[in-house]
Amino acid sequence: MTRPTFRIAPSILSANFAKLGEEVGNVIAAGADWIHFDVMDNHYVPNLTIGPLVCEALRPVTGAVIDVHLMVKPVDRIVPDFAKAGANVITFHPEASEHIDRTLGLIRDSGCQAGLVFNPATPLHYMDHVMDKLDIVLLMSVNPGFGGQSFIPESLNKLQVARAKIDDYAARTGRRILLEIDGGVKVDNIAAIARAGADTFVAGSAVFGAAKDTDPHRYDSVIAALRAELAES
Ligand code: DX5
Ligand code: ZN
Repeated sequence: MTRPTFRIAPSILSANFAKLGEEVGNVIAAGADWIHFDVMDNHYVPNLTIGPLVCEALRPVTGAVIDVHLMVKPVDRIVPDFAKAGANVITFHPEASEHIDRTLGLIRDSGCQAGLVFNPATPLHYMDHVMDKLDIVLLMSVNPGFGGQSFIPESLNKLQVARAKIDDYAARTGRRILLEIDGGVKVDNIAAIARAGADTFVAGSAVFGAAKDTDPHRYDSVIAALRAELAES
């Protein structure tokens, strides 16, 4: 059996927005794999964040994958804007799209990898008939809208069910779909989350909360600690 590969995706929601380019550069230099980019519209979720202009501004700062998590409703209008702005992965919530299959196709036709995001209480069956159009499945382990919330333990059971669906699909088709987790991921729970089946880990406050604005290597130790836990898992 091949060893699993893990991706760590710091969420810039918890970064210092006055120095966003620097923050992205520093966190990638510290060993992060992806940049998780949380888009909130004060409609689908009760908070307002960043849009395609910020994605476009960050694109030249890093060669890392920009993982755009859309918490917006409707979805389709904004997808091509993010693709043009340099997004690599675009995920959305099935409740926010009238036509889930169409939105997945739109994301892929725009040249990005596509994924569905499942809120804690959203059933996984939304993925069943669109597996061929999924590159990634993202499970929320908090209710979306804010960083710094606590991991919902039931998410571990849900991860196992999602892992089984994805593995079954991979065995039938040979296609790999990533399984990402978002919300409350910390050094002390990432190993259990990996054992439950996640391979891609969003961490906002755990990474950017680490001694903001002190020294330039401030993110090295927390990312190393997350990786050490993953290696143990
Ligand atoms: C929540 C966002 C998350 C959030 C994670 O709606 O989708 O990406 O930034 O932050 P932490 O890791 O602090 O829970
Ligand atoms: Zn997110």
